[in-house]
Amino acid sequence: MRGVQRIEEEPVRVLGIVGSLRRESYNRKLLQAAQRLAPANMQIVEARLEGIPLFNPDRGIPVPTAVQRLKERIRTADAVLIATPEYNYSIPGVLKNALDWMSYPPAENPFDGKPVGLIGATTGNFGTLRAQLHLRQILAYLNADVLTRPEVLVARVGEKLDPNGHITDPVAQELLQQLLQALSRRVVERRVLRLLHAC
Ligand SMILES: Cc1cc2nc3c(=O)[nH]c(=O)nc-3n(C[C@H](O)[C@H](O)[C@H](O)COP(=O)(O)O)c2cc1C
Repeated sequence: MRGVQRIEEEPVRVLGIVGSLRRESYNRKLLQAAQRLAPANMQIVEARLEGIPLFNPDRGIPVPTAVQRLKERIRTADAVLIATPEYNYSIPGVLKNALDWMSYPPAENPFDGKPVGLIGATTGNFGTLRAQLHLRQILAYLNADVLTRPEVLVARVGEKLDPNGHITDPVAQELLQQLLQALSRRVVERRVLRLLHAC
């Protein structure tokens, strides 16, 4: 069991993806709150979507460099944390576009079996609930290992910032911490399973 204890102490590397290109994105602020609240052994680094071209299978071989790089960053991360806005009851096109690239070609899908946490902030009343449901559906096709609890839905986010622009809402912070701990546990569980399979 010494191997299991060592696994629990290993760093957990999380790739953060924000589904908004907006400079003052609330969802990036939410990801930044997650970075501040992450457990000591967890590091969350953002991969930005600005350089991802519009999906076109005609441009799929060779895969554009920015797409290849995102695939590699997801593949080598222990887990992914997606902070998405809600646009017209769904996820923004920039995020769907990036996920379409990740799914193509299917044999190179870096989300296959990857632990994923979802978070979202909206200026509206429902905290990206509908967007997250759509995102779960998309990630089900990609065979990602998406956590179901807790749901981190930050409604009326514009009222939940401190003077530094940090999201300091105690409920949001508590839910974020719970989600990050659950994500860390899922990563450890997968490592233990790999260890057992290797024995
Ligand atoms: C095109 C567009 C569509 C939107 N649709 C919704 C929506 O369906 N539901 C909702 O709660 N908010 C909606 N909003 C408001 C967004 O939640 C809000 O703009 C949010 O701040 C966007 O996230 P960001 O700050 O990370 O860019 C929409 C905003 C835009 C620009």
